[in-house]
Amino acid sequence: MKILSIETSCDETAVALLDITGPLEKPEIKVLGNTLLSQVPLHEQYGGVFPMLAKREHEKNLPVLLEQTLKQAGSEDVDFIAVTAGPGLEPALWAGITFAEELGKKWQKPVIPTNHMTGHIWSVLYGTDAPLALPALALLVSGGHTELVLVKDFGDYRILGATLDDAVGEAFDKVARMLGLHYPGGPKISLMAGKSRERKAELDFKFPRPMLNSGNLNFSYSGLKTAVLYKLKADGREDEEYKEDIARAFEDAAVEVLVEKTRKALADEEGDVKTLIVGGGVASNKHLSAELEKMIGDFPAVTLRMPERSLATDNALMIGIAAYVQVSKDPSLLDGKAKILARGNLSL
Ligand code: KG4
Ligand code: ZN
Repeated sequence: MKILSIETSCDETAVALLDITGPLEKPEIKVLGNTLLSQVPLHEQYGGVFPMLAKREHEKNLPVLLEQTLKQAGSEDVDFIAVTAGPGLEPALWAGITFAEELGKKWQKPVIPTNHMTGHIWSVLYGTDAPLALPALALLVSGGHTELVLVKDFGDYRILGATLDDAVGEAFDKVARMLGLHYPGGPKISLMAGKSRERKAELDFKFPRPMLNSGNLNFSYSGLKTAVLYKLKADGREDEEYKEDIARAFEDAAVEVLVEKTRKALADEEGDVKTLIVGGGVASNKHLSAELEKMIGDFPAVTLRMPERSLATDNALMIGIAAYVQVSKDPSLLDGKAKILARGNLSL
């Protein structure tokens, strides 16, 4: 199936053309074209993403990326178009949807709405020959989401726990801002934390692990962020090593909660889960992947699947793969003429 996929839910404009065939456990994914334009440099100056500004940029970038993608592919031959309909920033989502629908009309091809979070889940189908075993537990960690999802089958998702306030990526970004680092701060915090670990610095403080012992699978990251703020105010220090230690103590706390809740979810499912999928921007955090690898050692029957680095953060490739899953499970989607709506809070 040849799929043109479009992603505009936040601050990345992305278009891909994929040719996917084969079983869902182990699809063959040929990337015919793949383009992405990040708006990070634009939003950096404001310290976050402004929806209307993002929308305008998506509208400007989409025709350019489409042209580049088709040029890479050397053909306009597609079976259908997939576009992210949510969750995300509604004005940004509309930019992609409107563009996809106009293209669908022009090419006389069906357009199907795809859930961005299913993109993060199925991003792990790319770049490996190993078949994916279900049921899986998915830990989704991004700028907008922190969720543990039970994936019983392709298309069958049940949210087991989620954040009650900030998402983990958002906490990384906010702490980065407190340390004077630009948006998005996740990768920068991670680098600084790594330097503190390399120095083997002895920390004489620890940040709280919110909800670690709450007995459920929910998360909360706003208190951790506030704890960092109070610590910075109390100490009044600005030197680089101090900031690295703060970054590390924050990362230790944020990651420990993710890992321990994931452990609890795996234990709760009593041996049913065969794969642990990790998806979303924070999946590229090295400390998180190292700690998850250690934890998964206690569950010999579970295989850990993380996305390739470039597929952890938002991209169009994952949207195309998720659309392949959708259409394989329900081919009638391809004759759907339903109007696609942007849904900022779309759930799995
Ligand atoms: O999945 P994504 O690209 O966008 C959303 O759907 O939200 O995730 C972006 C988030 C940002 O908050 C960014 O700071 C965080 O992922 N992030 C990281 C790292 N790389 C990206 N957080 C921690 N460590 C990283 N290495
Ligand atoms: Zn995302």
